[in-house]
Amino acid sequence: MELSSRASSPQLIEATSVRIESDLRDILPLDGELLLTRFKRAETLRIATDTWAPVDARVRPARVPSKFNEPSGAVVVDYLVPEVAWRTVALADGGHLMVHQGARQGEIPLEVSDADRRRHAGSPYGGQGKCDSVVQTVLTHFDGAGKVLGSVLVDAVLAVDVAVSQEGIVAIAQAGARDPAQPRPVLVPKDEVERVRAGLVDPEPFGPAGTGVLLLNIDDLSNGMSASVPCFRPRRGFVATDGQVTAVAFTPDDRLVVQQRAPAKLTLRDSTGETTVELPLTNASYGDRSYYDTGHELFHRDVGAGVACASCHPEGGDDGHTWRFSGFGPRRTQAVNVGLANTAPFHWAGDMPDFKALLDEVMVGRMGGVHQSTERIGSLEQWLYSLPAPVRTPDDPAAARGRTLFEGAADCASCHSGPQLTNSETV
Ligand code: HEC
Ligand code: HEC
Repeated sequence: MELSSRASSPQLIEATSVRIESDLRDILPLDGELLLTRFKRAETLRIATDTWAPVDARVRPARVPSKFNEPSGAVVVDYLVPEVAWRTVALADGGHLMVHQGARQGEIPLEVSDADRRRHAGSPYGGQGKCDSVVQTVLTHFDGAGKVLGSVLVDAVLAVDVAVSQEGIVAIAQAGARDPAQPRPVLVPKDEVERVRAGLVDPEPFGPAGTGVLLLNIDDLSNGMSASVPCFRPRRGFVATDGQVTAVAFTPDDRLVVQQRAPAKLTLRDSTGETTVELPLTNASYGDRSYYDTGHELFHRDVGAGVACASCHPEGGDDGHTWRFSGFGPRRTQAVNVGLANTAPFHWAGDMPDFKALLDEVMVGRMGGVHQSTERIGSLEQWLYSLPAPVRTPDDPAAARGRTLFEGAADCASCHSGPQLTNSETV
C-alpha cells in the first residue's frame, strides 16, 4: 500500500510516495508521526511525518485469556490472539482505542457426540454463553506513546466500528444480528428457575438480539481492564437499528450518527438514543430500492455460536488466522473473495464436494446454526460467487514481476491455470 502527500496548493508542487506494506487500515495523527493500523494482523505501525521513514515500533494488543465451554462440557482456558483491527480511533488524552477481534489460539475439537447434541450443549465454535466463541470482540486501549494499557472482551458479534464522544461514551457498531430462528442459551438467576420452568417468565437470551449500537462508558472500560478481563455487556444501553449498522460517529456536540444498510440511511440521535434526523441514502443505480440481499445477510449474521461467517472471512477475505482443529492439523482461513464459482471441491483438502456440504459442516455442524432452505443456500452461494477478487493495478511493476515468476520459473501455473487459476485437481 502506498501513502502520498501533496502540498496544499492547487498546483501540485511536491509529492512524496512511500511504499509501506500491505493490509493498511486506519491513519491517526500523532505528534510528528502518523500511526497506521494493519487490518488482519491488528498491528500498529508509525511513520515520521518529516522524513516519511517508518519508526521501528510495531505494537500488537496482547493475547487475552478466555474460558471456552466445549460441547463435551469441558471448560478450557485458552488464549485469544489479536487479529482483524476493524477500527482504531483517537482518544482525547492522546491515546487510542482499537476495536478488533481475538481468535482462539489452541486446539478446537470439532466432534460433537449425539449425547452432547441432545443436551443442546453448544457447538464447536461456541454458543453456550457470553464471550465463549472462537472469535470474540476485543477493545484495546493504547496510551499516547502507543503502548498497550489493557484489553476487554465485549459481548458483540462482528463489531465493525467504534466512536468515542467527548463525554466519554464508547459506541460500538454491532453488524452481526442474531439468527432469529436459532435457539439460544439463556441466563436464569437461581431464584427464578422455578418460575421459568413453570412458564411464568421468559428468560432473556444472551447478548443484544439485532444489529445496532452498544453504548459503554469509557470509565467502565478502564475498570474492566484492571480486573480479570470480564465480558462487557452494554452498560449504557443498546440502540437498535432496522438495518445492518456499518459505521458510527459522534458530532462535535456529542450526538450519535449511525450509518446502516438495507434500508440504507444515516440517523442522528440524541443522548437518549431517540432519532432526531433521518437521512435516507440512495444510489443512482438502485434509486430508493432496498439493498437487502439474503446472501449478504446470512454471511454477516451471528449464526448461533456468537460468530458470523464474516468473523473469520472479514469483508469476504480472510482473517489471516491459522486455526487448529483436532484431527485436521493447522488450517489457515481461506479467502472467499477470489472468484469462487466453479472451484469446488472446497477447503484446503478438497473435502467439501459442494457448497451445500460446506454449509452442513460449517454453518450447522460447527457454528450451531439451523438448516437453511435451498433458496437461501442458493442466495448465499451466489452472493459469495459475486465477490470480486482483489486486483493489483495492472501497471504495478511488482505484479508484472510476479506474473513472470508465476508463469515461469516458479511453475505455479502448472496447477493454477485457466480463468479460475485452478486445474481443479486435488493434490
Ligand atoms: C472459525 C472461522 C471460520 C468461520 C466462522 C467460517 N469459516 Fe469458512 N473457512 C475457515 C477456514 C479455516 C477454512 C479452511 C478450512 C479447511 O481447509 O479445512 C475456510 C474455508 C471456507 C471456504 C472454502 C474456500 C475454498 O477456496 O475452498 C468457503 C467457501 C467458506 N470457508 C465459507 C464460509 C461460510 C459460508 C461460512 C459461514 C457459514 C464460514 N466459511 C465460516 C474459517 C471459517
Ligand atoms: C502441485 C500443484 C500446485 C502448485 C505447483 C502450486 N499450487 Fe498453489 N495451490 C494448490 C492447491 C491444491 C491449493 C488449495 C486450493 C484450495 O483448497 O482452494 C493451492 C492454493 C493456493 C493459494 C490459496 C488460494 C486460496 O483460495 O486461498 C495460493 C495463494 C497459491 N496456491 C499460490 C501458489 C503459488 C504462488 C504457487 C507457485 C509458487 C503455487 N501456488 C503452486 C496447488 C498448487
